[in-house]
Amino acid sequence: MECTVRLERESEYRAVENLVRNSFWNVYRPGAMEHYVLHCFRGNPIFIKELGLVLEKDGKLIGYTMYVKSEICLDDGGALPIITLGPICIANEYKRQGCGKILLDASLEKARALGFGGVVMEGNIDFYGKSGFVVAKERGISYADDPEAEYLLCQELKPGYFDGVSGTFADPEGYFVCQNDAEGFASFDAEFPKKEKKRLPGQLFSE
Ligand SMILES: CC(C)(COP(=O)(O)OP(=O)(O)OC[C@H]1O[C@@H](n2cnc3c(N)ncnc32)[C@H](O)[C@@H]1OP(=O)(O)O)[C@@H](O)C(=O)NCCC(=O)NCCS
Repeated sequence: MECTVRLERESEYRAVENLVRNSFWNVYRPGAMEHYVLHCFRGNPIFIKELGLVLEKDGKLIGYTMYVKSEICLDDGGALPIITLGPICIANEYKRQGCGKILLDASLEKARALGFGGVVMEGNIDFYGKSGFVVAKERGISYADDPEAEYLLCQELKPGYFDGVSGTFADPEGYFVCQNDAEGFASFDAEFPKKEKKRLPGQLFSE
């Protein structure tokens, strides 16, 4: 697949948010929240502007990914700086054609070049495992909300960055903006084209 990974432009913010909304729509819950999470993160100091990346094909935006600065709380009391990926998405009509892997791999390469040491986030090992992620608890990193979680994943960007680590990861606060600001989210979402919310098998959340 011939496509380009590049920084998103300010003029594309709304188009990117619409892409994120459409791609996540009814996947994990009826409707989607990820476009508001992205929208709010853009004004947050932990958002990494250099890693707000689009995937473009024939002049069309077909994918997006972003990262934020975060940390692992170490059992000995310290904190290890890391980055957290997400949301990442591919336009519906391009899913399962290798585009997600192209975008993910390019973003990891860029994160490595920027000097970040490691990535931790929740995700499906079937997708992320193909790009080098492993289950985080196997590297001594447990999830604050669910210590035995197999879906908390990690990847070193600098070799040895997680060696000897024992600690806990909690999602940065900004990922909960829709729950914390339900009104703001509802009025933001109303600016987008109307779409039908559906309850579908396999969704993780009921609303
Ligand atoms: C998840 C997502 C980014 C993957 O992008 P994609 O372009 O569809 O994935 P790719 O074609 O690059 O997949 C590469 C491999 O990862 C695995 N994979 C991808 N999506 C998967 C899924 N939903 N379930 C299980 N395995 C998956 C497969 O092994 C796939 O290879 P295959 O198609 O030959 O079996 C995309 O499907 C998407 O936007 N989904 C909705 C939003 C979302 O869930 N984002 C991730 C949140 S953690």
